Amino acid sequence: MKRKLGILISGRGSNMQALVAGSRAPGSPYEVALVASDKPEAPGLAWAAEQGIATFAQSPKGMSKPEYEAAIDAALRNAGVEAIALAGYMRLLSDAFVARWRGRIVNIHPSLLPLYKGLDTHARAIAAGESHGGCSVHIVTEELDGGDVLGQARVPILPGDTPAALAERVLAEEHKLYPRIVAEWLSR
Ligand code: GRF
Repeated sequence: MKRKLGILISGRGSNMQALVAGSRAPGSPYEVALVASDKPEAPGLAWAAEQGIATFAQSPKGMSKPEYEAAIDAALRNAGVEAIALAGYMRLLSDAFVARWRGRIVNIHPSLLPLYKGLDTHARAIAAGESHGGCSVHIVTEELDGGDVLGQARVPILPGDTPAALAERVLAEEHKLYPRIVAEWLSR
């Protein structure tokens, strides 16, 4: 039986698309049971729906955070989701949500954690004179970008690099790393 993965997105969802492609590779241990978003207009939701994947959208506007997260949680459970991958999901999950899914949520972050948690990672890595940027897949805990790292890809920073150019090269690595690490994680 394949493990059922739920993916949370807020935007274009290119990492979600890479995870869907990974789920379709021969021998994949997981299938994507739901793509959910806090942004009903997220382009990734329309893409997933076109692929025949179940989708769920819930704007948090006009609700409390617990109400909003209860709706997301119910959608994930109704879809039989066993593990969650965050893919450009731009909201902080509450401690209560993280506790309910303890050890079963992963995220991809565009830096070599524990370096450069939070936003603007590429600009900060370039400004600091780092030789490499990269990306990390990690378990989600209550601490922002703080859980155990499951895998990383390193990307050289080139002379004259800009945050946008580095981000593009790192993103290409994210698309390879995330499905590989999620498959390993869900094979355990
Ligand atoms: C990526 O840079 C990812 O590392 C970060 O958010 C961005 C999401 O891009 N967590 P996409 O929505 O997967 O295209």
